[in-house]
Amino acid sequence: MNRDLNPQAEQMGDESMARNLAFQAQAIWPQEQALFDRYALDGAPRILDLGCGTGEITRRLARRYPRAALTGVDILAGNLALARAANAGLEARVHYETGDAFALAHADASFDLVVCRHLSQAVPEFPRVLDEIGRVLRPGGWLHLLSEDYAMLRMPRGAHDPDRFWVDVVLPYLESIGCDGRIGRHSPPLLAARGYRDVAVDYVIVDTERVPRAIFGGILRAWRDGYVDVLAAAGGRAAAEVRADFDSMITAVETPPNYAVWHVPVISARRA
Ligand SMILES: C[S@@+](CC[C@H](N)C(=O)[O-])C[C@H]1O[C@@H](n2cnc3c(N)ncnc32)[C@H](O)[C@@H]1O
Repeated sequence: MNRDLNPQAEQMGDESMARNLAFQAQAIWPQEQALFDRYALDGAPRILDLGCGTGEITRRLARRYPRAALTGVDILAGNLALARAANAGLEARVHYETGDAFALAHADASFDLVVCRHLSQAVPEFPRVLDEIGRVLRPGGWLHLLSEDYAMLRMPRGAHDPDRFWVDVVLPYLESIGCDGRIGRHSPPLLAARGYRDVAVDYVIVDTERVPRAIFGGILRAWRDGYVDVLAAAGGRAAAEVRADFDSMITAVETPPNYAVWHVPVISARRA
């Protein structure tokens, strides 16, 4: 594997990420699933789940589209092993492949819908991935892009300033490994520049009103467990300090009546 094109490979393959993806699916999918109505796909669409990870959403897509043929592609064999282990009953319609989002093995115009969730912040040069998506998506096909933005997390103020944490700690770490932590807000113009039509931006709102606190807290706890050491190293801070920042936010999120919110941008567009 070219580690430069998956600079978070260690974190992406860690147990904490599998846990995180399960929590994130529980938090996000209940609101996100309605967005697929816009694509009005019927029949047996061909769907690519690019950067499918452990298949949390590939499985949900298979239920959302009971006649679809789904392909999950990920660069990490360990994540695909977890996806395959949870594929019972779906083998005829869902298959998983090891692949690189920068150089897909698929022919031009192979898919009616490309779903790409939580990948854009994980790779450098995401516009190159968009070019590859545009190649494998058929003209008129839809792109469903969940594109994170780490300046869209808001926690109540405690002993530490949580706004500064995301902006001053997380964004510089991502920049140091060539990734864009503000790729959410940067995604719509990237699609417009590639000639996509019907570009729309929706938000899934992960907050303490809509999502159980244990799930929201679970996401933060999993991020803490996977990222404390690299965030500390990138920022020249002690790991214990970064851990304390996370712990303060986890306590805030899990303690009523505190309010916290993570706005998750979902960009959809139709290929010209
Ligand atoms: C945060 S996970 C998201 C998983 C899944 N899309 C979901 O929403 O649950 C990002 C995934 O992208 C994969 N990934 C990173 N770089 C990749 C690349 N260049 N090609 C394919 N997959 C990649 C990682 O291995 C990881 O499984």
